[in-house]
Amino acid sequence: MKRLFSGIGIAGVACALLSGWQAKTPTTILITGDLLGHLEPCGCTFPQTGGLLREATLIRKIRSTSNVIVLASGSMVASPGRQSQIKTETVAAAYHEMGVDVIGLGNEDTRLGFSGILAIQNNAPDALISGSLQQTGPLNMPRTKGIGSLLVGSVSSHPEDLARPVQSPYIPLAESIKSLKDDARLNGQVPVLMLDGTVSEAKQIASQNPEIRLIVYRSPNDVPLAPIVVGKTVLATPGQGGKKIVRLTLDDDQMSGYQVIPLGPEFSDDPTVSKTYQSYLKQIDQLGLLDKLPRSKTSPYAGSASCMSCHQSAYKVWSHSKHAHALQALLKVTHAKDPDCVSCHVVGLNSESGFRSQALTPTLAGVGCESCHGPAKRHTKMPRTAILPKVGSKPCFSCHTSEQDPNFNALTFKTKYWPQIKH
Ligand code: HEC
Ligand code: HEC
Ligand code: HEC
Ligand code: HEC
Repeated sequence: MKRLFSGIGIAGVACALLSGWQAKTPTTILITGDLLGHLEPCGCTFPQTGGLLREATLIRKIRSTSNVIVLASGSMVASPGRQSQIKTETVAAAYHEMGVDVIGLGNEDTRLGFSGILAIQNNAPDALISGSLQQTGPLNMPRTKGIGSLLVGSVSSHPEDLARPVQSPYIPLAESIKSLKDDARLNGQVPVLMLDGTVSEAKQIASQNPEIRLIVYRSPNDVPLAPIVVGKTVLATPGQGGKKIVRLTLDDDQMSGYQVIPLGPEFSDDPTVSKTYQSYLKQIDQLGLLDKLPRSKTSPYAGSASCMSCHQSAYKVWSHSKHAHALQALLKVTHAKDPDCVSCHVVGLNSESGFRSQALTPTLAGVGCESCHGPAKRHTKMPRTAILPKVGSKPCFSCHTSEQDPNFNALTFKTKYWPQIKH
């Protein structure tokens, strides 16, 4: 403290006065989480919302004018595996950098096993809580966390599923909720519940436990624009994929001022979290995860160059299209070795005869002829017997998904997309 004041002088005193004044203003509660692996928007189309880098900027901005409590639902990744493990470490580190106060352990997190839980605990010390696991052996995390006037608990509506991957005994839902309420009453705190459960489960809990002022639930759907209120309990969700933040105001024990903030491109990238994210990308690169992807036997691929001699006009159209250069687009954004991205930007990544690397399989880099027409090596040898089926718009949908390209649909296929690459 002494060092701080002597270094900053009058500005430091002014700052301390300012923060003393802020402490009396209502507290802002920010709700985030349930990223399911979406650390950053893919950049496939513009504009896309979401991402830890923008989120950190938003939180910093709000923190500069008010007291902030940040609650994050867990479920950082959607599937187990090496990349998910590193993602979990990255998300936890980013949450720590943003000053996330509580991370509520979710069923998706325990699917990574002990190493997933450790990854969160090591990178975001003192944030992870769960009231659904019996705290035994190596599983050691608090059931609740007190922050100012709040006592935050975290439970799963299916604690048996949460506990199974880490072979832990679990605490039944009703019991863990009761102990949150008891502890809050004892300490004179306001109980808040992070629930890995649905909105209808949240509604039921709210109607049976009116003391709980806020329940953060999970939802695969969009974040509601108006709050759901049961009695005096506000129900809120961050949605999925880290696209939006929900903001609430806590005044005494009342929640108000519900606001949904989409993380659009108007939020710049936070420099600290950017560094953490860049080091994630570097790790993915260095570990060579792309080379380790499982591959299956398929009919063999030939590469786009081998179609040129017989289909010159089609080849010409294709080679001038963006498809031909889709791997370069990834290179530019330093994701060219990211298994999350490459499959839609090359030919046959999941096949033994498909894309390996720019150096080894240059004619399978980018979206090639066989991304749409299917593996065609046999056709190149016997074009009149190994006939390729008509494909229509079907292959387009596997890459132009609603996530990567919300503008693509059956109508725009006809009016906008196909005319650009017609051959
Ligand atoms: C499910 C398939 C799919 C995945 C996975 C995917 N992309 Fe894409 N990407 C697309 C499609 C489709 C487009 C073209 C969208 C359009 O034309 O609007 C595209 C376009 C792009 C572009 C070019 C944008 C431009 O302005 O030309 C970039 C850059 C990009 N993606 C980056 C990524 C990154 C980074 C990832 C991984 C985090 C990723 N993509 C994962 C399908 C995918
Ligand atoms: C040796 C010449 C040759 C090569 C190489 C070749 N094709 Fe063909 N392709 C043909 C012939 C001939 C037809 C039949 C055209 C016809 O009957 O009108 C054909 C037809 C097609 C058709 C229409 C559907 C069908 O099978 O009749 C598609 C699609 C096609 N080729 C894609 C490809 C792709 C993709 C490649 C490269 C992987 C490729 N071709 C390589 C000669 C070739
Ligand atoms: C983005 C997807 C896509 C890519 C990439 C693509 N095609 Fe096609 N191609 C189609 C579609 C769709 C048709 C229309 C016929 C159909 O529905 O199968 C078509 C038609 C054709 C036809 C004519 C078939 C006919 O019925 O007349 C040939 C030949 C062909 N493509 C060859 C190629 C070659 C060679 C390349 C690469 C140089 C290529 N295509 C790249 C989607 C694609
Ligand atoms: C294997 C994945 C994949 C398939 C299949 C695919 N696309 Fe694409 N498409 C992409 C990617 C990736 C890009 C972005 C390339 C870039 O910008 O570098 C893209 C870009 C495009 C673009 C250029 C958009 C622009 O902004 O200029 C058009 C048009 C397009 N695709 C049409 C189609 C159509 C039509 C089909 C189906 C017949 C199709 N695509 C199938 C991955 C795919």
